[in-house]
Amino acid sequence: MAPFPPPPVNTIDWSNVGFRVREVNGHIESHYSVKMGKWSPPQFVTDPFIRIHGMAPALNYGQQAYEGMKAMRTPSGDIQIFRPDRNAVRMQHSAEFISVPPVPTDLFLDAVKAAVSLNAGFVPPHETGAAMYIRPQIYGSSAQLGLNPPEEYMFCVYVMPTGVYHGTHPVNALILEDFDRAAPNGTGSAKIGGNYAPVLRWSDKARNEGYGITLHLDSATHSEVDEFSTSGFIGAVVKGDDVTLVVPDSKNVIQSVTADSILDIGESFGWKVERRSIKYTELPKLSEVMAAGTAAALVPIRSIERRLDPASPQSISSAGGDQSRFSAGKDSEKVTYIADAQEDAGPICLRLLTQLKSIQLGKVKDDFNWCAPV
Ligand code: COI
Repeated sequence: MAPFPPPPVNTIDWSNVGFRVREVNGHIESHYSVKMGKWSPPQFVTDPFIRIHGMAPALNYGQQAYEGMKAMRTPSGDIQIFRPDRNAVRMQHSAEFISVPPVPTDLFLDAVKAAVSLNAGFVPPHETGAAMYIRPQIYGSSAQLGLNPPEEYMFCVYVMPTGVYHGTHPVNALILEDFDRAAPNGTGSAKIGGNYAPVLRWSDKARNEGYGITLHLDSATHSEVDEFSTSGFIGAVVKGDDVTLVVPDSKNVIQSVTADSILDIGESFGWKVERRSIKYTELPKLSEVMAAGTAAALVPIRSIERRLDPASPQSISSAGGDQSRFSAGKDSEKVTYIADAQEDAGPICLRLLTQLKSIQLGKVKDDFNWCAPV
């Protein structure tokens, strides 16, 4: 038998992996029927196309949810997955919102490990720092016209080699003003397609105007930070040697495994962490802002802009306060936050990202016990 894991395949230019779908050996499928009352054992399927009825609620009523995780190669060539147990629980949380039977944690972990090990040659070489991106998904899959949960469901795990989503350089962020990501009592904390598809036209428009990422405020008042369209929000306040990391505690954001890990890493450095509401008017006071997510890793934010009438009661101009990182234009509140470091990540982001990647890549001891071997 060939030794496991196999080396990386030589059909990919590993110096330029990018963030896109690539065909691999196959994916994992498990099926659930109400009649059987349980998920079937995971099966490896080589065809990337799945068989699902055209009248499935997944396709018609958005009854689907997904996850994102990463597997990386350690210096010795072994493969490890970053915190898959956390994603299992998060997918169970999403499943409840869309009335899909929860995938038990053991099955989720077995399926994820199987998907990675049966595609192990597509886990990038350790030196590239790139990862295998893991995409578990659940759907209501049998035909159902009425607005009721169907009889059958699917759980799939796809994998593909990727670099990081937004690159590694600082990006400009735009606060979306005319579109609310999640209703105040809605599905904002669930990782479902319905929280992503409606953002596409706004993020596309923003990208064409030079913004690499879009940011959502809370829908009810537009006065507190929720999250970026692709990732969680982390702010850092630095006062002399004191560093405090802040993340929004909004009930309408997806519980980011990466952001949670960054907070734990920050605490291990002796930094303070706060989970609390972050007022929009506080943004100019932040020393650094970062976007945290599986695909994003940790992206330094160069600036945050909002197109708001400076006379609006929401505006920073009206609120007074510290405006050192803020400039109001004539017609709109323009730069709400601007980073000191414009070309590279700031020192806080850099230190956190280095430690996160070192743990994921097995370069330092995993004192948190986060990585699961494959
Ligand atoms: C992830 O970071 O895993 C996500 O699901 C975000 C997605 C927009 C790529």
